[in-house]
Amino acid sequence: MDSFRSKENLNQFESIFGKTNQPPRLFRAPARINIIGEHVDYLGGTVLPAAIDFFVQVLLRPNESQNYRLHSVSYNQTVELKKPLSPNSKSPWVDYIAGVIFEIEKKGHVVPGFDLLVDGNIPQGSGLSSSAAFEVVTGYAIKETFGFSLSREEIAQIGQKAENNFVGTKCGIMDQFIIAVGKKDDCISLNTETLKYTYHHFDLGNYEFYLINSNVKHSLKDSAYNKRRSECESALVKIKAKYPNFTQLYDVNLSDSEIDQCHLTKEETKRTKHVTSERERTKVVIENLESGNFKEVGSALFQTHWSLSKEFEVSCPEIDFIVDSLLRLGVTGARMIGGGFGGCVLVLDTKDHFSKIEEDLKKSYQQKFNVAIDFYKFQISDGVKEVLI
Ligand code: GLA
Repeated sequence: MDSFRSKENLNQFESIFGKTNQPPRLFRAPARINIIGEHVDYLGGTVLPAAIDFFVQVLLRPNESQNYRLHSVSYNQTVELKKPLSPNSKSPWVDYIAGVIFEIEKKGHVVPGFDLLVDGNIPQGSGLSSSAAFEVVTGYAIKETFGFSLSREEIAQIGQKAENNFVGTKCGIMDQFIIAVGKKDDCISLNTETLKYTYHHFDLGNYEFYLINSNVKHSLKDSAYNKRRSECESALVKIKAKYPNFTQLYDVNLSDSEIDQCHLTKEETKRTKHVTSERERTKVVIENLESGNFKEVGSALFQTHWSLSKEFEVSCPEIDFIVDSLLRLGVTGARMIGGGFGGCVLVLDTKDHFSKIEEDLKKSYQQKFNVAIDFYKFQISDGVKEVLI
């Protein structure tokens, strides 16, 4: 995929912004999966994501002005952005760039004017983090072009803040982090409290991971995400009133009757149950992934799915139907990934099952919901990088 629309994007760039002696540079950021550790990255939990070979790419060239001229290929729209920067409700895609510039400047750098064209192939709303890829590739392209000293980890944090402050989703750090530091064929285990992480190499042998896109995106996604986060925060406040030593909901290890005495609402109790049980499942997956015990990994994935669906309540009928059907068809493991309310299911299974599962599920899903589903195979890939045109 190294040549994906590179030349075509260069031609588009030069016809929109003009040709000069200095050609733009091309930067590319991957999508991500998360093997386990869902909805815990804003609660100090451990997550196990990997970068995959879908991507967002930008061409960027300084323009010797104070302004930013931006073109999105997907929206077929050109916008000129001037300071002071503020969220733009007319062209929401511009907020990702404005937010990143704003956050880089908060760290003491001045970002000169530039021309930028963005393109990509991460299906939006699929739960594969097209937004985080856009933020990280923008931050990385600015840092490389203007020679700012910012580490990959700092670029990830800048991207997260852009999303929190400009776009308005109070997301955690997982997506931007793996997109910044990902490595081919490895996933990482990331402690989202300390930001310490370890690469894990695993050989799937005759197993494979693949994705199924439900092609549904429920509109309550962002507001419900922020609501779940605040339910977790209020649960922790109540637990701390009785057990002041806990600093993160993820670390709470109380019995059901101890939790009962903290006077949580029904919702707060269910959210806490998901978050704390996810801690145990994540340990199981880390232990069994490297040793190749994929049956254990798969069963933890199914358990996480039902916990996200019943306790955290971020699934939807279409996604539950897919996971339930996969269970009945005998796959090794499957679960929704990402924020929820639609998007993709991650599947772990032996390679020889694929064609039969694809055929069966395409038919039954279409019959039930009158929507087509897509199957994606992928490679675990490197994080953000420059690509030679
Ligand atoms: C979205 C967010 C992440 C994370 C996941 C759920 O992808 O961007 O920070 O919270 O949802 O695990």
